[in-house]
Amino acid sequence: MENKIGIIVGSLRKESFSKKLANAVADIQLDGFEFEIVSIDNLPVYNQDFDDFSNVPEEYTVFRNKIKELNAFIFITPEYNRSIPGCLKNAVDIGSRPSDQNVWDNKPAAVFSSSPGNIAAFGANHHLRQCFVFLNLLVMQQPEVYIANISEWFDDEGKIKKEENKEFIKSAVESFTQWITRIN
Ligand SMILES: Cc1cc2nc3c(=O)[nH]c(=O)nc-3n(C[C@H](O)[C@H](O)[C@H](O)COP(=O)(O)O)c2cc1C
Repeated sequence: MENKIGIIVGSLRKESFSKKLANAVADIQLDGFEFEIVSIDNLPVYNQDFDDFSNVPEEYTVFRNKIKELNAFIFITPEYNRSIPGCLKNAVDIGSRPSDQNVWDNKPAAVFSSSPGNIAAFGANHHLRQCFVFLNLLVMQQPEVYIANISEWFDDEGKIKKEENKEFIKSAVESFTQWITRIN
């Protein structure tokens, strides 16, 4: 069976480094695996009343159904104030409800975090992992993927400039595919 890996990006901005990284991951060719970037850009802020009173926005239904279709997820996150951006937490929350219909349950995940700074969004990376415990997303422990100085990574076309950085990302994604195979 072809494994379909969803890529979820914790940034809404057009020139996002995280979005460029997501495109680079989606371009990787690996037998038996395909990638799909799942947009979270138009998801309304989560309100439990939508679920409790059967007034679920169409955007939630489309997103939840897409997540159900996919077998595994790479979360690519920047860091906002030493945590994950609100848009990413919102997407995670929408997928988690109603509580007996958590669409993340029992699926493999990986976290790639990045920052223009030196700490490589360590705080965001680990806050996201904390959510995954409750959601039962089976997160790859090693290798951990932290990218510092991400603003130096891309050329004017949004492609990764250095071969060694391309190799680093490819090898992290390959490790993740091994993790998926191991726990499936
Ligand atoms: C509200 C806000 C908070 C931020 N907080 C942090 C932070 O805690 N740590 C960090 O390394 N960068 C922080 N930054 C800078 C982001 O890393 C930078 O804007 C990055 O480019 C965002 O990712 P993106 O390029 O994928 O949109 C913050 C940016 C914003 C807008």
